[in-house]
Amino acid sequence: MPRYHLTTFGCQMNAHDSERMRGLLESLGYAPSDERDDADLIVFNTCTIRGSADERFMGNLGEARRIKRERPDAVVAVGGCWAQSQKDTVFTDFPFVDIAFGPGEVNRLGEFLARERLAPVGGFTLDGRFSGELPSRRERPHQAWVQISVGCNSVCSYCIVPAVRGRERSRALADVVAEVTAQAADGVMEVTLLGQNVNSYGRDLTGEDRASFAELLAAVSGVEGIERVRYMSPHPKDIRADVIEAHRDIAEVCEHIHLPAQSGSSRVLKAMRRTYDRDRYLALVERIREGVPGIALTTDIIVGFPGETDAEFEESLSLVTEVGYDGAYTFVYSQRPGTEAGEQMADDVPPEMKSERIQRLIETVQATARQHLSRHVGTVAQVLVEGPSRSDPARLAGRTRHNTMVTFAGTGCAGQLVPVLIDGATSTTLSGRMADVATPVRA
Ligand code: 5AD
Ligand code: SF4
Repeated sequence: MPRYHLTTFGCQMNAHDSERMRGLLESLGYAPSDERDDADLIVFNTCTIRGSADERFMGNLGEARRIKRERPDAVVAVGGCWAQSQKDTVFTDFPFVDIAFGPGEVNRLGEFLARERLAPVGGFTLDGRFSGELPSRRERPHQAWVQISVGCNSVCSYCIVPAVRGRERSRALADVVAEVTAQAADGVMEVTLLGQNVNSYGRDLTGEDRASFAELLAAVSGVEGIERVRYMSPHPKDIRADVIEAHRDIAEVCEHIHLPAQSGSSRVLKAMRRTYDRDRYLALVERIREGVPGIALTTDIIVGFPGETDAEFEESLSLVTEVGYDGAYTFVYSQRPGTEAGEQMADDVPPEMKSERIQRLIETVQATARQHLSRHVGTVAQVLVEGPSRSDPARLAGRTRHNTMVTFAGTGCAGQLVPVLIDGATSTTLSGRMADVATPVRA
C-alpha cells in the first residue's frame, strides 16, 4: 500500500481541506505515514498570509528536496494558498515538485495523481466545486468543520486571500444541511461553519437556493443531534440583526463571535478598506452585547500597517480594553506582493517599532482577557469534553459554549456535555471541577 505524509500550514480552511485530502488519499488506497522520510507521496497544504508563513514552508520544502534527491521515486505535491500564488513559477523554481494545486483544486488531487500514474481516477466527483463534497477524515469524532463558502469578495488592502482563493461562492443550503446530517449520524455534536466571510453567505445564490446566513444557522441548528453551532469568520460589515437574533434565540448557536477588528484607528481602517470605522465597530459590539449579554468576543489585530502612527497604534490598544475581548490573535503587518498595500504603500513602520507594538498589544490582550474571563468564576459552564488535559492527564479538558478551554477535575469521556463549576481563570483558559448538577447548563 503506498503511503502519504501530509503537512498543513495556515488557517482552519486549510486544516479542513487537509481532512478532505486525507479522506481522498485514503479512498484511493493510500495509508498515512508518520514520517516524511517513509512516505511515497509527500503533500504540503500551504499558507501565504504573511512572509513568515512562506519562510516556515521553505524550510519544509528544503527537506522534501533532500528526500527527493535520496529517493527520486517519491512524489512531492504542494497544495494550498502558497502553491496558488506561485503557480506560474513553482515548477521552474522548485523542479523537484511534481504536483501543484490551489485551494480550489483539492477535489482534483486524485486527477493530478492519476496524471502522474499514481492513482486510478474515481470514487468522487472530480469537478465538484467544494472540498466538502469529498470524503473526509476528521481529527475529532464529536466536532466537525463544514465548508459553507469558498473565496472572498472583500478588498482588504493588506490581504492576499482574495487573490489566491478567488471570488466568493456559497454552497447550497441543502448540501450543507445534508453534510451536517451525515456528520451528526456519525456522532458529531458540534459544527463550525467555515468561510472567509461567512456572513455574506448566500448572496450569490439564486432562485430556490437563495438563503441568508441566519437561515443557514437555523437550518444547521435544526439537525437532529447537533448541540452546538459555531462559525469562522464573519466580517463586521456584514453582521445583521438576524444573526444577532440567531445567537439570542437559537439554543444551538453558541455565545461567541470572532469579530476581526484589524485596527482601532478609523484612519488605518479606511486605508485597510475595512468599510467600517471605530465608532461603527463599537456600535456593532454594543448591539451584539445588548442582544446576547455575556457573549464572548474575540478578534484579530494587525500592528505596523503602513503609516500607522504611535497615536493610531494606541487606538488599537484602547479598542481592546474598551471592547473587553476574551482573546485576540495579534499579527505584525507583512507586505504581500499582489495586494493593494503591498504594491502601493511603503512598509514604513520599522521592524523594531513593530516588535515593540506587538509586545504591548499582547500584554494588553492578556490583561484584558484574564480580567474578562474571570467573569465566569463562580458560574457553572456547559463543557463539551475533548479528553484528558494535555498538561495534566489526571484532569479533563473541553470547551465552553463561549469557546474557552477549561481543564477540570471530574469523570467523563470525549463527547459528553458536562456541567463544570469554574473556579479559576488565566488569560487563555479556565479551570474548575465537575458540578453536581446532572443536567447540562446552557450559558
Ligand atoms: N499582514 C499581517 N497580518 C495579516 N492578516 C491578513 N493579512 C495580513 C498581512 N498582510 C491577518 C488578519 C486576518 C488574519 C487571518 O491574518 O488579521 O484576519
Ligand atoms: Fe488560510 Fe489565508 Fe493562509 Fe490561505 S493564505 S491558508 S486562506 S490563512
